[in-house]
Amino acid sequence: MPTVVNLEGVLVAPEQAKVSVFDRGFLYGDSVYEVIRTYGGRPFEEEAHLARLRHSADRIGLSPKWDAARTAREIARTLEAARGGDRPDPDAAPWNVGERYVRVVMTRGAGAIGLDPALAVDPVALVIVQPLAGPPARAYRDGVAAAIVGVRRAAPEAIDPSAKTGAHLPNVLAVGEARAAGAHEALLLDGRGFVTEGSSSNVFAVAAGVVRTPPLGAGILEGVTRGVVLRLARGLGLPAEEVPLRPEELEAADEVFITSTVREIVPVTRLGHRAVGGGHPGPVTRRLHRALRELAGGPPGLS
Ligand code: PDD
Repeated sequence: MPTVVNLEGVLVAPEQAKVSVFDRGFLYGDSVYEVIRTYGGRPFEEEAHLARLRHSADRIGLSPKWDAARTAREIARTLEAARGGDRPDPDAAPWNVGERYVRVVMTRGAGAIGLDPALAVDPVALVIVQPLAGPPARAYRDGVAAAIVGVRRAAPEAIDPSAKTGAHLPNVLAVGEARAAGAHEALLLDGRGFVTEGSSSNVFAVAAGVVRTPPLGAGILEGVTRGVVLRLARGLGLPAEEVPLRPEELEAADEVFITSTVREIVPVTRLGHRAVGGGHPGPVTRRLHRALRELAGGPPGLS
């Protein structure tokens, strides 16, 4: 059974996984979540993800139903129940075959309708495990297109960007805009026109051998993969800077790539209508991806 839902500790099939229409996660995006992936069937960087989940909950004053230890146990149980039954996918990148996507969601729960968070009665916790549908092998080999979209990242004063919450409408609209432009990922600017991050990824530029990514103060999520990539870059002796980036710097970069749990490191070879670098994945991106592949185990990178 490759897709299994753990709803409040009860393992159910996806069609049986139902929450109340009064749940504030459904009504207001009043929830926090994490996306974790497996390598060799085991969660990768689980501690960092569970620490961020706790941080997200603290930032919005949500008392999670499960603590980190219970969450880890529930993830393990759900992964166990979701073993086997994968359909072969000839396009899949080899390191994703047989692996799992784990989504942990904690909502403030249901209650009388109204914005006041105190109306929530009973927080909800759930885990969704399904086959990992990462980018296809060709995305790593050839790169993908990204588009700088018109939707702006909310200002850090408006919504704490370090909290990974379920309030995702801007991200949804940004992806819609990117897909309409034939791009895989949407890159969002802030109100002043600086680059922030992708709709569900962090973004990096490489120019003259220097790896650059916007700082946390740019109003971005502190991506677990971003942190891993910065550590890998520094370990490889590559200069790596967290500095504000303008869209023109991305456009003029030798290489651009995006990072996320599900994607690892995906080269961006087109930005809007322009080719990035020579229109092919660059050497620094390839080197970092090889290093990440080595760290995570399994087959080497393709790019
Ligand atoms: N998204 N920025 C945003 C806005 C994100 O939603 C994500 C992750 C990232 C990358 O973070 P990490 O490296 O920890 O996955 C950056 C997850 C994967 C998702 O929503 O599917």
